[in-house]
Amino acid sequence: MHKFLKQFITHPRKTGAVAASSKHLARSIVATANLAQARVVVELGPGTGVFTEKILQHLPRGAVFFALELNPGFVAETRKHCPTATVYHDSALHIKKYLRQHGVEHCDCIISSLPWGVFKKSQQAELLDAIIGALHHNGEFLTFTYLGGLLLPSARDFLKLLRSYFMIVRKTPVVWRNIPPAFIYHCRHGSAAPVKHR
Ligand SMILES: C[S@@+](CC[C@H](N)C(=O)[O-])C[C@H]1O[C@@H](n2cnc3c(N)ncnc32)[C@H](O)[C@@H]1O
Repeated sequence: MHKFLKQFITHPRKTGAVAASSKHLARSIVATANLAQARVVVELGPGTGVFTEKILQHLPRGAVFFALELNPGFVAETRKHCPTATVYHDSALHIKKYLRQHGVEHCDCIISSLPWGVFKKSQQAELLDAIIGALHHNGEFLTFTYLGGLLLPSARDFLKLLRSYFMIVRKTPVVWRNIPPAFIYHCRHGSAAPVKHR
């Protein structure tokens, strides 16, 4: 946990959390995703690799998996924690480039821990553009939000944006055994085109 806190103090607006997610939240996000059917899975912002470990445990044999992490310290942490994972040191914005490197155009599932609440609305939209452009038509996108964070205007803007990008946006029950408690948005690409944002 101290490694996380140190990164938060150094890069608060990129890290977005004072502690790594709990194993309970990791289990919940992996159980919500349809990993059994996935052929290509991407994780955004693995941090110290709590979700990465669980994703790898549930990934079908032969499926492509990689993670994109902006913070070099966290890249090293995830690689240490999950030596079989492919972790690139780059922004989630460049997801398409790495899909192509793996010989595919789209992925079936994106599991994100990006700290949406600390991003400006323009950054949120730019990242969601990259995400939507990387997902298969029937792909799924999962991301979590802290319960208390919903009071922030940026978190409300993010939910509006999600609803404008995805046809289906479902919320899971709150995972109380996480600091702070959190829930997951489970979004389906469907056929909705992004609409103009106010
Ligand atoms: C809230 S932490 C979550 C870490 C971990 N998945 C967990 O749940 O414990 C957010 C992570 O997203 C990373 N991050 C922030 N912006 C990013 C970006 N544009 N591309 C990739 N990773 C990013 C941060 O460095 C950090 O590791």
